[in-house]
Amino acid sequence: MPEQLNQLPDTATKEEKYLLLLKQLASLTAAETDLIANLANIAAAITQTFGFFWLGFYLVKGNQLVLGPFQGPVACTRIDFGKGVCGAAWKEKRIINVDDVFTFAGHIACSNESKSEIVLPVFKAGEVFMVLDIDSDELAAFDETDEQYLQEAVILIETLL
Ligand code: SME
Repeated sequence: MPEQLNQLPDTATKEEKYLLLLKQLASLTAAETDLIANLANIAAAITQTFGFFWLGFYLVKGNQLVLGPFQGPVACTRIDFGKGVCGAAWKEKRIINVDDVFTFAGHIACSNESKSEIVLPVFKAGEVFMVLDIDSDELAAFDETDEQYLQEAVILIETLL
């Protein structure tokens, strides 16, 4: 895998960017077995493609989520079960897409710049193993296209566990 990630021009649609990204994620991770190395490159590749304000993984450790590989400003390191958007996605075992984080009861503000957020649970053997958390500095940044293709990325990540 080259160290440079090919990027489509800005005129490409979001769907086109996701389709290329998914191929790149598969290629980036194909020859590597270390989970942290793979999550680190996945975080970088998604962020390079879309320029999200913050993107990272929180891994389940006991009764908490603990910060894993990420891109963006420093962030909260531990989140309790059921707390914040991340803890809610873990507890409810579903994608949570929040258009305006200030309206989400219990939202944990690692940064005042975050305005919308999507969290996707990643499963191993039927249990949440980690979550993928993405923050945007714009309101309502994530739509159904993001949900659909980020879920495709999650399915790929699940094959690495
Ligand atoms: N906002 C998240 C906390 C993690 S940061 O966004 C990086 C939450 O409410 O769970």
